Amino acid sequence: HDFWVDAAALDELPAEDVKGVQVEGLELALYRVGAEVFATDDLCTHAHARLCEGFLEGYEIECPLHQGRFDVRSGKAMCAPLIDDVRTYPVKIENGRVFVALD
Ligand code: FES
Repeated sequence: HDFWVDAAALDELPAEDVKGVQVEGLELALYRVGAEVFATDDLCTHAHARLCEGFLEGYEIECPLHQGRFDVRSGKAMCAPLIDDVRTYPVKIENGRVFVALD
């Protein structure tokens, strides 16, 4: 990936929690789990809900609307009512900034 975009300061991301950000017109959810950060589309694949308003437990984000859960590492849909996985984006952390690769 050669299209890294600065998405947030690492300091802005609360520990063990999710935050919504806008990057190049895309709405993304950033998840801080321990020393790692993961990124997915913010919109749930089931209906119109924002994952950044959900609940992060370990590596799973629970959608606030119908409690579907995705693994934030792979985007995999873990339970009903979800059918489709959510898109994930590569993340790197450099100099206290969080970069996301968009293609
Ligand atoms: Fe996310 Fe239904 S909108 S589980």
